[in-house]
Amino acid sequence: MPAPNTLTIGGDLPVHRLGFGAMRLHGDTPQRRAESVAIARRAVELGITLIDTADAYDLGGNEELLAEALHPYWEGVVVATKAGQCRPGGAWVPLGRPEYLRQQCELSLRRLRLERIELFQLHRIDPTVPLPDQIGALKRLQEEGKVRHVGLSEVSVEQLAEASRITAIASVQNRYNLTDRRSEPVLDHCERRGIAFLPWLPIAPTTRSGGDLVDTVAAGLGATRAQVALAWLLRRSPVMLPIPGTSSREHLEQNRAAADLELSDSDFSALDSLADRGAVKR
Ligand SMILES: NC(=O)c1ccc[n+]([C@@H]2O[C@H](COP(=O)([O-])OP(=O)(O)OC[C@H]3O[C@@H](n4cnc5c(N)ncnc54)[C@H](OP(=O)(O)O)[C@@H]3O)[C@@H](O)[C@H]2O)c1
Repeated sequence: MPAPNTLTIGGDLPVHRLGFGAMRLHGDTPQRRAESVAIARRAVELGITLIDTADAYDLGGNEELLAEALHPYWEGVVVATKAGQCRPGGAWVPLGRPEYLRQQCELSLRRLRLERIELFQLHRIDPTVPLPDQIGALKRLQEEGKVRHVGLSEVSVEQLAEASRITAIASVQNRYNLTDRRSEPVLDHCERRGIAFLPWLPIAPTTRSGGDLVDTVAAGLGATRAQVALAWLLRRSPVMLPIPGTSSREHLEQNRAAADLELSDSDFSALDSLADRGAVKR
């Protein structure tokens, strides 16, 4: 029996259902580096076992920072990374050529000081490269033992289905939160197939919008708006694994505590109505 609050990725990789997005940790000054290292370590101390990063975050610097903070990794800690976007001049540009994906995987292995990446996600599908070539490259890395599970990011149901015919897709990372539900059909598809769904931007919009209702629910629970956003997501689907990002220790602790909050049925349904209708596509 998996422990409570556990989600098993790809059928054999159990992680805590509340993850951590490391994108907001930086090492550009000694002070920020020390604080970022401390936050990453605190996340693991709090029982968070899925940490999300990418080759492109600080051009590899984010992965190096995580290795500095967490290596040798505690048993059960999974650092999930991504490849498939490059940053020319600071822009985000999909780059899914097979040889590039392979190179980035090798670099991530070196920076993270790993023999194998437990969850390797294609950051974006590159529209200029046939999808089978991109997924085929990830499948070969799996066959060579460099990658255990493959995930995707910002995909449609059709792209997910096509990729799944090439190799098993263990996770999907799409933008999704209380008010932005454009990925609802993808979430439903993931739930039917037992694919982990990692919503990015899980809380930030709820700290600004959602009005009085979020405040009322938060006050009733003795919680914050961000915690209500996370509790709603976790209740929304058993395959949900939010990866909130923060550069604050206090916020990290609040976010972790949100996994233990229980929303009543009526609060859950009332919050459900907050979806920005323009952002809901069923
Ligand atoms: N796949 C993709 O394309 C993609 C794109 C973007 C991000 N991501 C991943 O998703 C992760 C999360 O995304 P995100 O960081 O953009 O969105 P987010 O987690 O929804 O929002 C982070 C923002 O919310 C604030 N915050 C965090 N916890 C809070 C709390 N308890 N109370 C109040 N404010 C709080 C943070 O500020 P403080 O620092 O002050 O706490 C920060 O400004 C990233 O770290 C990254 O790993 C993936």
